Amino acid sequence: MSETKPVILKIGGSVITDKNGDLVAKTEVINRLAEEVAKANVKNLIVVHGGGSFGHPTAQKHGIKEGFKHDGQKLGFAETHHVMTVLNGLVMDAFVWHEIPAVSVTPSSCVVTENGRIKQFEDAALRMLLKLGFTPVLYGDVTLDEKLGFTVLSGDQIVAYLTAKFNACRIVIGVDTDGLYDGDPKTNKNAKLYAHLTLSELKAIQGKLGKPAAVDVTGGMFGKVNELLPAVEKGIPVSIVNGAKANRVYRALAGEKVEGTLIEKG
Ligand SMILES: Nc1ncnc2c1ncn2[C@@H]1O[C@H](COP(=O)(O)OP(=O)(O)OP(=O)(O)O)[C@@H](O)[C@H]1O
Ligand SMILES: [Mg+2]
Repeated sequence: MSETKPVILKIGGSVITDKNGDLVAKTEVINRLAEEVAKANVKNLIVVHGGGSFGHPTAQKHGIKEGFKHDGQKLGFAETHHVMTVLNGLVMDAFVWHEIPAVSVTPSSCVVTENGRIKQFEDAALRMLLKLGFTPVLYGDVTLDEKLGFTVLSGDQIVAYLTAKFNACRIVIGVDTDGLYDGDPKTNKNAKLYAHLTLSELKAIQGKLGKPAAVDVTGGMFGKVNELLPAVEKGIPVSIVNGAKANRVYRALAGEKVEGTLIEKG
């Protein structure tokens, strides 16, 4: 049984899907990332993936994040969860075939939120999976919410929660840009990449992190950084790398030097 502190990997929906499409999975990217995760062979790894063009547009279409307002949304809630299980199935397929002992943990079945924040997390099974050396895989999902009836739970919030709860030693975030820039590199060609940021530098630039051009009901890069701030405050390093480019996630997981943004407390 393993006692090492876990490493948390978030694979962005921006990496494994085409966020400008509708339900478009990038299966070759998913397969390559599975190969990289297998090769890095990190002990006590927890993987969380995002919704991309599966979760976000479906949740947005039915106003799921805003909560339960009318019966007509119930099918939208079911559909949002279902499309996430489809995307998760593709990730699990790649992981298991690359001989990663990955087991899917469904957030909507073990989490209850209050006003969008995790209130209860039934984590006994997750704890045992980790102890036995499995690789738990979670994802952005819908949740039942004590105030809103239901809402959307971002993969980024799950990362933050698990980091605190399981005392993670570091976080690797894969996105579809080379890291954090001083503006959205998709819309601003002159945006400059930050190779290293301290906590106070990160706080100072947060306002520059634009909302994504594509649909992201959980706040895009701004929302992501907001979720990560408490972890950085606790001294946990966060490495943001381009998961769409070969070997960046592998190098970050293996602790090798890699192009991207490294955020440390100071
Ligand atoms: N300052 C910035 N630096 C880097 N990317 C930025 C910045 N501001 C905005 N972005 C945008 O943020 C996007 C990544 O956030 P987004 O939430 O869309 O992806 P994700 O979290 O990987 O996807 P998902 O939420 O589906 O998991 C990038 O595609 C980029 O266009
Ligand atoms: Mg996002």
